[in-house]
Amino acid sequence: MGNSGCKNGTCPTALINKAREAMGYAYAPYSNFRVGAAISTKDGKIWTGCNIENVSSGLTICAERVAILKAISEGYPNFEWLVIMADELIYPCGACRQVLKEFVVDIKITLVDGKGNTLHTSLGKLFPFPFSL
Ligand code: THU
Repeated sequence: MGNSGCKNGTCPTALINKAREAMGYAYAPYSNFRVGAAISTKDGKIWTGCNIENVSSGLTICAERVAILKAISEGYPNFEWLVIMADELIYPCGACRQVLKEFVVDIKITLVDGKGNTLHTSLGKLFPFPFSL
C-alpha cells in the first residue's frame, strides 16, 4: 500500500491497527455488529471510536462519530484520513458523512473488513452533495 499523503505514521496501516483495537471495544449487544474507526489529524495524532448502542435505539452512536467528536472536543479539528473497520466492508452512514463534512473539504477514507481487505475512497466521492447553508 502506498504511503502518499501520510505524515507522522498516521497512514492506513497504523490507522487500521487502531481501528481494529477500537472495534474490540464496541458496545453492540442489540445488533451484534461491531464497528471500529480511527481518524488521523494533521498533527500526527490518531483518534479512535467504536459504536456504542443504547437500549433506546435512537441514542446509538456510530464508531466514526465517536472518533470525530473525541478529536474535536480535545481541540484537534484538522482531519487527514479515516479508517472504518467491521467484519464486512461498510460505508459510513449518512449522518457520519454530514458530521465529517462539517470539518473537512475532503478526506481519504479506507474501509477494512475482518480479513484485512481494503477499499480506498474519499468523502468527496461518497458525499458529493452535502447539505449546506
Ligand atoms: N454503525 C457504525 O458504527 N458505523 C456506521 O457507519 C454504520 C453503522 C453501527 C451503528 C450500530 O451500532 C450498528 O453499526 C448497526 O447499525
